[in-house]
Amino acid sequence: MLSQTIQSARTVTIRGTRSLSALSLGSVPAGPPDAIIGLTDAYNSSTAPHKVNVGVGAYRDDSGKPYVLPVVKVAEARVIEKGLNKEYAGIAGIAGFVDRSLEFAYGKNSDTLKSGRVKGVQTLSGTGGLRIWGEFWKKFGGDGILLPDPSWGNHTPIFKNSGLNVETYRYFDYENSKLNIDGMLEDLSKASPTCVLLHACAHNPTGCDPDMGQWKAVSDVIKEAGHYTFFDCAYQGFASGDAEKDAASIRMFVEEGHDMALVQSYSKNFGLYGERVGCLSVVGSDADNAANIVSQLKICIRPNYSNPPVHGARIVEEVLSDAALEQDFRDQCKEMSERIILMRSLLRSTLEGLGSEKDWSHITSQIGMFCYSGLNPEQVDRLREEFDIFCTRDGRISMAGVTQGNVEHISSSIHEVTK
Ligand SMILES: Cc1ncc(COP(=O)(O)O)c(C=O)c1O
Repeated sequence: MLSQTIQSARTVTIRGTRSLSALSLGSVPAGPPDAIIGLTDAYNSSTAPHKVNVGVGAYRDDSGKPYVLPVVKVAEARVIEKGLNKEYAGIAGIAGFVDRSLEFAYGKNSDTLKSGRVKGVQTLSGTGGLRIWGEFWKKFGGDGILLPDPSWGNHTPIFKNSGLNVETYRYFDYENSKLNIDGMLEDLSKASPTCVLLHACAHNPTGCDPDMGQWKAVSDVIKEAGHYTFFDCAYQGFASGDAEKDAASIRMFVEEGHDMALVQSYSKNFGLYGERVGCLSVVGSDADNAANIVSQLKICIRPNYSNPPVHGARIVEEVLSDAALEQDFRDQCKEMSERIILMRSLLRSTLEGLGSEKDWSHITSQIGMFCYSGLNPEQVDRLREEFDIFCTRDGRISMAGVTQGNVEHISSSIHEVTK
């Protein structure tokens, strides 16, 4: 019977005239390209010599080239030298990596960490951790999640695909290009208890973070309203250049006694984009509660991808387990963040020097990888069509793609489309 089926399948394939299955996929429509990946494709196919990609959120050095941190090369060589095997990691990943990762985020001296109330799993970078959290929350938390408006473009599809209803709270004052703290507090206080996603630092795409006083107010409102806090931390060390400072919001929430969850990404700060290194952790009500939650996270992970990749996690573990390498990492991460801060002031001063009368102060007041420029979709289209500068239609410019060599071209083009 089986061989008969195979035989007829062969015949049909050879003739190629009709589908063997009654459930044909012949009518599947082409999907739209991903906004950011599509942008990179368009950039790659442009032949303009002065083309610039300021769409994708990946660090570039001052000659516009992808950058591997020297400390990552050293740690990688050490990992290879160990001659480890390529067996599967456990469902929760490499335990040593998770331990170092928790210390990195919560602080080596955190009493809460020492108490055993914090436990985590390795994830497929930040994206994988967000998705696992979405599935877990749908199973044990609730039906919805509250995101800032705006947020990283992938948040909404990740959580919708996890089966959650996605709603937003006000975050950005679009008119004045700054944080809308009053709107944020009001929306959080009025919402029924749910999971609230907060960007721990370097909010993507706006580059606007609450100051510590504002974080305290957010913590109070979340407590009062009975929400559950979920931090997304994709830029620790990259935002201010100081990984301790960038973790201040997370650590304050722990101090304030929240039960909460955190997803960490090592894409930007360690430059390990394609290695897919991340960690998802929870602060439980006690050690047993944290362990129970982790056991359920593992049940979400297993049918998704079984277990995470080992190579990148071994590199991070190597760096964070060695005081000298860790210091090198902190210095090199600071250098990346300083180059970005320098490009912010150069972009702003060049625009002002060209006589632009618009207020560009937000370019230097925002932090992290992105500048939420305030350009509208038509202006972005003109940048692309007339000047070969590629950025997303919400006007988000990746400062990592700005260099001393292209800042003049970017500034004069922005000036031209905003006159
Ligand atoms: C806010 C935020 N969260 C999560 C991620 C996930 O990145 P990755 O999956 O590369 O770790 C990103 C990447 O741009 C981000 O900006």
